[in-house]
Amino acid sequence: MKELVRPALIGTEPYDPGLSMAQLADRYGADALVKLNWNEDLFGPLPGVLDAVAAELATNVAFYPEQAFGDFREAVAAQAGCQPGQVVPGHGIQALVMSTVGVFVALGDRVVIPKPTYGLYRQVCQAAGANLDIVPTVDLRFDLDQMLARAQGAKLLFVCDPNNPTGDRLTADEWRYVRENLPAGCVAVVDEAYADYIDPAERINRVADIDAGHRVVVLRTFSKLYGIAGLRLGYGIVPEAMVPYYDAVQEPFNLNRAALSAGLACLAIPEVVEERRRLVASVRDAFAARLADHGIATHPSASNFVLVHVSVDDQELCGAVARHGYMLRPGHEFGMPGYVRVTVAPEIMDDVADRIVEAAQALGA
Ligand SMILES: Cc1ncc(COP(=O)(O)O)c(C=O)c1O
Repeated sequence: MKELVRPALIGTEPYDPGLSMAQLADRYGADALVKLNWNEDLFGPLPGVLDAVAAELATNVAFYPEQAFGDFREAVAAQAGCQPGQVVPGHGIQALVMSTVGVFVALGDRVVIPKPTYGLYRQVCQAAGANLDIVPTVDLRFDLDQMLARAQGAKLLFVCDPNNPTGDRLTADEWRYVRENLPAGCVAVVDEAYADYIDPAERINRVADIDAGHRVVVLRTFSKLYGIAGLRLGYGIVPEAMVPYYDAVQEPFNLNRAALSAGLACLAIPEVVEERRRLVASVRDAFAARLADHGIATHPSASNFVLVHVSVDDQELCGAVARHGYMLRPGHEFGMPGYVRVTVAPEIMDDVADRIVEAAQALGA
């Protein structure tokens, strides 16, 4: 059947998240590894979330989650400051990237993607038969002028803010520049997976931009600060008129009841979420400061991870640190040799920093 496959799929590499934990533990001879390599939340579930899931499943596991979508849309809209009718639920940003590409991208359309950024945009666009226009960052920051120049005649412009793997975020002025100079005919797809880690007072309000008629799609997730990556829950915020097109490309009951009830439980406790955000930020900043004390530079992060410039072979460094039980993400996997990306976790980060310093020195930094 191979000759019947859509031509765009020939040569499209699947997204590579790296080796599994079992493979890594085997390779590095550690019994168990702490996963600091995938940017999941490692601070434990928020209070009440697991109970809400159990209660929902006990009553409703036999039923399609029809009504639950309405509740979820309303709760998201109340938090996000948009209309429920603008919310597109999806099982994570990964699914919503696919839906967005399904809505906008036809064979041969051009899409603009910065580099480095989250790898999935590239794979999904390539599989859809888009022409990829990759714009390198300058000093690890988006080259906005180049991105906007290339967006002329392109269908989508991907903006990951804060960006993965740098952790960096756009300033309000930079975003305004993008928004105001986005060429006609191009939609900005903004992945806000890590935006929940930004101080609410400094967060960019892109819902207002959508309401003002800018061509913007916002993608959000419960996988990061809300800590339920395993349940797969996210949503898009789009102009209301676009929702029928999303409905046309998504599965009708695409979210499961466990995820929906967990999401609702998270949205019901904003003060606890804010407390968690501050905790993660303080652990992250202390980790970066400890590395800086030993002369190891990090990129400023507004996320739950830190990009560390180890200036030695990143794979060897990850191997050395893995032998102490910590799995980091080597930069060569996302085109940045000499860097490692480290997800922050409670309690262990001093030790992780010390292991990185030790390994970097042993490797000649
Ligand atoms: C920038 C970015 N977007 C999206 C995702 C995946 O989000 P979700 O779990 O909602 O599919 C990740 C996961 O690491 C990410 O780094």
